[in-house]
Amino acid sequence: MTLNNNNNNLMGKLVSLAKRRGFIFPGSEIYGGLQNSWDFGPLGVELKNNIKQAWWKRFVHNREDIVGLDSSLLMNTKVWEASGHLKNFSDALVECKDCHTRYKVEELTTDKAGYVCANCKSRNFTLPKSFNLMLKTFLGSAEDLTSLVYFRPETAQGIFVNFKNILDTTRKELPFGIAQVGKAFRNEITPGNFIFRTREFEQLEIEYFIREKDWQKHFEIWRGEMLSWIGYLGIDVKNEIRELEVPEKERAHYSKRTIDFEYKFPFGIRELYGLAYRTDFDLKNHGEKSGENLKYRDWETGEEFYPHVIEPSFGVERSILAAMCSAYTEEPAPTGEEGKTDIRIVMKFPKWLSPIKVAVLPLSKKENLSGLARKVYLELKNHFVSEYDETQSIGKRYRREDEIGTPYCVTVDFDSLEDKAVTVRDRDTMKQERIAVGDLVNYLKEKLE
Ligand code: GAP
Repeated sequence: MTLNNNNNNLMGKLVSLAKRRGFIFPGSEIYGGLQNSWDFGPLGVELKNNIKQAWWKRFVHNREDIVGLDSSLLMNTKVWEASGHLKNFSDALVECKDCHTRYKVEELTTDKAGYVCANCKSRNFTLPKSFNLMLKTFLGSAEDLTSLVYFRPETAQGIFVNFKNILDTTRKELPFGIAQVGKAFRNEITPGNFIFRTREFEQLEIEYFIREKDWQKHFEIWRGEMLSWIGYLGIDVKNEIRELEVPEKERAHYSKRTIDFEYKFPFGIRELYGLAYRTDFDLKNHGEKSGENLKYRDWETGEEFYPHVIEPSFGVERSILAAMCSAYTEEPAPTGEEGKTDIRIVMKFPKWLSPIKVAVLPLSKKENLSGLARKVYLELKNHFVSEYDETQSIGKRYRREDEIGTPYCVTVDFDSLEDKAVTVRDRDTMKQERIAVGDLVNYLKEKLE
């Protein structure tokens, strides 16, 4: 989100770019869509996978103290009784009596005279009603209370109910963490703002188990880890992120301290990620309600106790939306490149995040150029996510690659047939370098690492 964007309809531009270039499509579009559901296209799925893989590498593979898990989306209803979600996971909802628009109480618009309906300006609201956000379905053929189950509203509970399994099989000692990436579902009252709030989304969560006395220390460590990850996404932490100490009455029922990392989205400053100190609330409740021993045994002292937990929680879609907002740049178009328009739109993603790393572009469709270009492409494809494009003018193809954030374009021209070299164009500087075909893989490897 550089200053020259002036945020002028940035969301509109992003939604349109996402559709036009194959990042994100409206869900069930040919049937008129389905209430704020979104499908990730060929480029969107690459973005998602890059985020999930980089996160997993950083927080699981690169560390000795965190292991992974992939638990079910549907869980025994007793899980949600014990976790407090059936009782507490709800929003206070009011309805405008005149136009029947529904609002979360915390999102009601106010003016000098109090609450006002953003739709029809009425001040006539119903009393707040509690609305549970758990999404329901039925298992088996009978649709009654005995077959009613809930989709998980957070990945975290899969971790807590597997705590003993993981302890028994990995023999981890405190402090240690369990990480999980996966879908979560919430029957949100007011989904919206593109992929910011949806009813189906993905979370990246870690439950980091500690001794109670160490909670403040680990909370601070995770705060730093989260900020560092946010910077890695290409977000300017100093100027685009605000940390909000969530007051007690707004914290989730399980949390003794929560920090929200808020991002300056074009529609307002909103939660990107959350960091919570969940105490021993979850393990203790599951231990007591299931009758299983979910305590940790200190092998030196023999002491048994419920570990406390620090929970860094990241949303995949919000990561993508924030990264896209920060990456979106409009610049005056260069004069030298054919097919120029007045502005050049560039998605300045960090290179690791770009969906396509290299594009191979023969200058002309002529047989002999295409032959060499395809040979170059097939070799590069073994090493990097690459694409081949021989349609339209070279200038238009550069614009297209800029718009999807491809860091390098490799142009094969008529000289290439003689000197066995190609031109590599850098997305950000637009500088071009002549590189021998034989050196190309190593050259790009160095640049992309
Ligand atoms: N286990 C803790 C937990 O679920 P949360 O603050 O409710 O905490 C964590 O959710 C993160 O999940 C959020 O910071 C956000 O990134 C993402 N998230 C939550 N609800 C979402 C929704 N409806 N749509 C998209 N992302 C959502």
